[in-house]
Amino acid sequence: MSTPILRTSRLLLREWRPEDREPFAVMNADPRVMEYFPATLPRRQSDALARRSERHFARHGFGPWAVEVPGVAPFIGFVGLVVPAFDAHFTPCIEIGWRLSAEHWGQGYATEAALASAAHAFGALGAEQLVSFTTPANVRSRAVMRRIGMTHDPADDFDHPRMPHGHPLKRHVLYRMDANRDFRGTLDR
Ligand SMILES: CC(C)(COP(=O)(O)OP(=O)(O)OC[C@H]1O[C@@H](n2cnc3c(N)ncnc32)[C@H](O)[C@@H]1OP(=O)(O)O)[C@@H](O)C(=O)NCCC(=O)NCCS
Repeated sequence: MSTPILRTSRLLLREWRPEDREPFAVMNADPRVMEYFPATLPRRQSDALARRSERHFARHGFGPWAVEVPGVAPFIGFVGLVVPAFDAHFTPCIEIGWRLSAEHWGQGYATEAALASAAHAFGALGAEQLVSFTTPANVRSRAVMRRIGMTHDPADDFDHPRMPHGHPLKRHVLYRMDANRDFRGTLDR
């Protein structure tokens, strides 16, 4: 299945390319980017994550897109849609997620790409709800969730089943967005 391409006013959400692997590895080795993950990723694990992203598109027809800023940067990270591979009170579901290289934070790129991803999920894919989750301290990610219209009910917070017991990143906040109730399709900061 080929990857659907999404265009926004500043961004191209596209298929992964071999030349993305290098900047992806640099990003995944950056402690700023990986602050709320268990560890930075060595090259081998970064490449494996890129391959998993490609396989996700092949299996589901959607996934985490490679994000390009035409005329500015050929690859700045990923934003997109993932089916979580663990069981929790909110699964099965579609998660919306993002990871951008720190040089490209603070310009609204994550929000712009997330709005396009959500529009694709609610439009072409006919999804009724999206979720997003992160550790409570990840305020930048939570701000993206809020900006695109997601809401947080503390009753939804959960312990991530993939994190070891007692790990400081085990607790997670869950945000949800319903197609009809929450999604406005535009930036509302
Ligand atoms: C989460 C992450 C993608 C958010 O990046 P971000 O740059 O804060 O988010 P956006 O791209 O939406 O940019 C928003 C910022 O750009 C500013 N901005 C500038 N121009 C803008 C525009 N045209 N439109 C919207 N916002 C704009 C906003 O005011 C906001 O600034 P602020 O951070 O000072 O409040 C980024 O921090 C990241 O990759 N983190 C590491 C990976 C991670 O933790 N991922 C989430 C795991 S759940």
